[in-house]
Amino acid sequence: MRGILSAAGYVPYRRLARADIKDFMGSGGGKGTRAVASHDEDTTTLGVEAARLAMRSVPGHSPESLWFATSVPAYLDKTNATAVAAALRLPGDVGAYDFGGMLTDSMTAHPKICPNTGELHFFGAGNIFEPHVSYHRADADGRLTISRPIDVPALTLMHDFALTAEHVVFLDLPLLFDLRVALGGSFERDLPYRWDDQYRARLGVLRRDDPYGQLRWFDIDPCFVFHVVNAHDVTARGENAIALEVLRYDEMWRHNSEFGTDAALWRWTINLDTGVVEESQLDDRGVEFPRIDDRLAGTSARYSVAVGSDALIRYDLQRDTAVEHRFDSAGEAGAPGEAVFAPAIGRPDELAGWYLTYVYNSVTDSSDLVVIDASDFEGEPVARIRMPRRVPHGFHGNWIAD
Ligand SMILES: [Fe+2]
Repeated sequence: MRGILSAAGYVPYRRLARADIKDFMGSGGGKGTRAVASHDEDTTTLGVEAARLAMRSVPGHSPESLWFATSVPAYLDKTNATAVAAALRLPGDVGAYDFGGMLTDSMTAHPKICPNTGELHFFGAGNIFEPHVSYHRADADGRLTISRPIDVPALTLMHDFALTAEHVVFLDLPLLFDLRVALGGSFERDLPYRWDDQYRARLGVLRRDDPYGQLRWFDIDPCFVFHVVNAHDVTARGENAIALEVLRYDEMWRHNSEFGTDAALWRWTINLDTGVVEESQLDDRGVEFPRIDDRLAGTSARYSVAVGSDALIRYDLQRDTAVEHRFDSAGEAGAPGEAVFAPAIGRPDELAGWYLTYVYNSVTDSSDLVVIDASDFEGEPVARIRMPRRVPHGFHGNWIAD
């Protein structure tokens, strides 16, 4: 059986008075206390404790495989799935996936699998020290084959990137780690990144067949992007360009880390001959969490579905049009989450399959899993399944076929 049967968290027992942080650092601090790991606790041991709790609540169920992900490294080793599996005394045939212990970096939430090669492309970002960003590639068998630094001048908030058949594109944008905010002690409420008017907004292009080569950087107008929709090489009619669709904010977090503005769909066309990036807004609706048919990552996918206000918006990226599936009609009130495309088995067509989304109804405080036929996007959902309990609005989801 697959699915979420149990979840658990583990918070270290010891508490540290925030005022003591100010005494030690000379600034920051804040009120109250915060949990601190003891000297013999790290993210691996905390993960083991949380997993024990989660497994204890579903006796008789054992995981088939184990992934371990953390935003904070345990002794700079972020890939301890094997150690966690051993500590939990899981059977030897339970796969523990950690790149053989070779990856000593963070992992983006938005890796891309190349449909041509099966390779996994991803990056790690978040180091205060250089390199702030590194690019990684694993082959189709899960072996880490390439790791290299990306030369960005500061710790920029890089959340997503783009892949094409021939290129990898990095977003170096003016939202930078701010140590003063980080030391301010209100980390839970105020993320330590701030807009910087002095920082250049750039796109960095790396050729996939020269993975250790120089990146070419292209200036763009200041902006911020959490999520890339998709990208592809443009080679028709003798063009030598990369088209990149993104959800673009004009600005982000100048004074605090509150979300006060919406992102909209834009296309950047990077002309590799002239070095000029053409920037065009394609739609003015506020949207986030774009998805495509993941099988088409890095190719000229036609459709992308994003979350709008009480609606899913499906963009036709080839005709630059959009249609909506609304959730604010009678009996269907609710706010959808990210829509994941589940393709019909054996059908390569982008319209042969279904979009799956959790829809939250704030009146009844309930969540439905809603299934929409991709060939009838504006029509009635083909299924609406009431969840046994509310599913909190998250960020992302994935469909994993058997
Ligand atoms: Fe994300």
